Amino acid sequence: MSEQSAPSTQSVFRDGLLRGQVALVTGGGTGIGLGISELLAQLGAHVVLASRTAEHVEKAAQSIRDAGGSASAETLDVRDPERVNGVVKKIAAERGRIDVLVNNAAGNFYAPSESLSPNAWRSVIEIDLYGTFFCSQAVLPVMKTQGGGRIVSISMTLHYRGWPLMAHATAAKAGIDALTRTLALEWAPWGVRMNAIAPGPIPTEGVRKAFTPPPAAGGQVPDVFAAEKAMESYARKAIPAGRWGTPRDIANMVAFLASPAGEWITGAIMVVDGGEWLAKNPAPQMQRP
Ligand code: COA
Repeated sequence: MSEQSAPSTQSVFRDGLLRGQVALVTGGGTGIGLGISELLAQLGAHVVLASRTAEHVEKAAQSIRDAGGSASAETLDVRDPERVNGVVKKIAAERGRIDVLVNNAAGNFYAPSESLSPNAWRSVIEIDLYGTFFCSQAVLPVMKTQGGGRIVSISMTLHYRGWPLMAHATAAKAGIDALTRTLALEWAPWGVRMNAIAPGPIPTEGVRKAFTPPPAAGGQVPDVFAAEKAMESYARKAIPAGRWGTPRDIANMVAFLASPAGEWITGAIMVVDGGEWLAKNPAPQMQRP
């Protein structure tokens, strides 16, 4: 395989690795969350996909079932602890256990800090940080009763160096890292392993939009491949591994941590980014007067 080719969608893990297990994936209907849900289901777990948007999670759960996996959907806002507790109790009552929680739900946008409204700040902090805490706290009694469990939270790398226009998200994800280490210590005696993954750049719809040049002026035919070319060039310049990440790259780390291979790993923040943050590329969109 060349350095730049995309990874295979075949699983590197053995069939049935997570058979009999139940996983709850917040934000599981789209993007990285969907990639995680698909792999956990492929490895035999029953996956509950939960998000604010019923359409996303129901469609995704159906596509997992169509592919031969076991999945169901729940609608919740991770900022609402009562609803989170209700969903967790329902899953435990119906399935008898929750082995894996993936705190993947997140909200984010680029915005200058000087004009960030209190509600904008609160929204991102509450979805990312409060949501991670509420969901983790809600599954704890279930995991304690069954003798343990795995919690994996999705963090980021941008707060390692700071990232302009991302004050809200970087603060929230730094909080998630702190929570990961603290809860790992508190909950280890009950067999609960608490880890985080810091993904590098994964080309979501928002990223593609950011790399798409404005419409061609003066009647010129627009270059439909412009975004792909710009992204390829970014990968060559800024990502030592030479390619963008995929949801499967992140899902593989979740599966590893959820499997017995992760038994002795807790309080760790696993960077899965093709070496991007170490490469010290200039942070984008720095504004100078
Ligand atoms: N720039 C500045 N402020 C923004 C913004 C942006 N691009 N996007 C949202 N906000 C502000 C809103 O104006 C609002 O503040 P206000 O009430 O003072 O006007 C506040 O953030 C909450 O936004 P809203 O969309 O009403 O709240 P929400 O809680 O339903 O959703 C987000 C919050 C972050 C999820 C939502 O803005 C969003 O959909 N973002 C893009 C999608 C996304 O985040 N996907 C996940 C990628 S990790």
